[in-house]
Amino acid sequence: MNSQWMKAGYRAVAGEEGAEIGKAPFLNGGTFLLSRRYLVSYNEGGEQAKEINLMTSLIHMFVGGTTGKWRVERVSAIRGPALTPVPRLAIFDGYPSTIPEDSIWHLRGVTSYERYVHRAERSALVTRQPDLGHPNATCAALIPIKKSVTWWELTQDERRKIFEERSHHITIGLRYLPAIARRLYHSHDLGEPFDFLTWFEYAPADAEVFEELVGTLRETEEWTYVEREIDIRLVVADYL
Ligand code: HEM
Repeated sequence: MNSQWMKAGYRAVAGEEGAEIGKAPFLNGGTFLLSRRYLVSYNEGGEQAKEINLMTSLIHMFVGGTTGKWRVERVSAIRGPALTPVPRLAIFDGYPSTIPEDSIWHLRGVTSYERYVHRAERSALVTRQPDLGHPNATCAALIPIKKSVTWWELTQDERRKIFEERSHHITIGLRYLPAIARRLYHSHDLGEPFDFLTWFEYAPADAEVFEELVGTLRETEEWTYVEREIDIRLVVADYL
């Protein structure tokens, strides 16, 4: 049993026998491997099952293929290697028991705590940011981003300085609320090809405003640390 399981007080698990299907974060910041066996055994348990289900429910999977609510309008490789264009995108909140057969690629991320936000910024965000899923928000963008090793080698303080004091990411972003709804998924600790999956929803009338926002952020110092970025634009499939 590895030390993460020990720290969290779990009993030994026979994970070696299960094929690894991913990793998920511990609430205390570590990660554990997910295997089909873990899921089966913990889904049968009591309190432990609740905790493991809570953790797996933080996982979200974006599946590019031929099915899903979102029709892909375009896929642009802004920086770094491209991602295979697909006609549709499906989103799973929680871990799907099987990856859909039509899947051409899938990307995983977890919702997590905020790393950089100060108290006043949090208040401004809470006041202004809309929920996802508004019926008028028929456009969306999935923008997977990978930052460089240099970025990850900086300290938290150094990253905050670049992110906000010098690049004004939050200050800029706040100007676009409530027009743009957003959610940030973390993938860095899951061993995924991207560090972040950024998700945005907006009404067709705000499409230009969204272009302006991404254009502005891409000019900032923060973006000099972005080594891979794919911009996937979507519309609700049955929206005319
Ligand atoms: C809609 C307006 C936006 C707002 C209000 C906003 C706000 C934020 C906030 C508050 C964080 C920090 C979360 C934390 O403390 O951990 C963040 C992180 C991030 N945002 Fe935005 N954002 C916006 C738009 C965008 C756009 C358009 C992109 C991509 C093109 C983007 C990419 C990212 C990335 C990659 C991170 C993670 C940075 C890191 O941890 O290194 N954001 N955003």
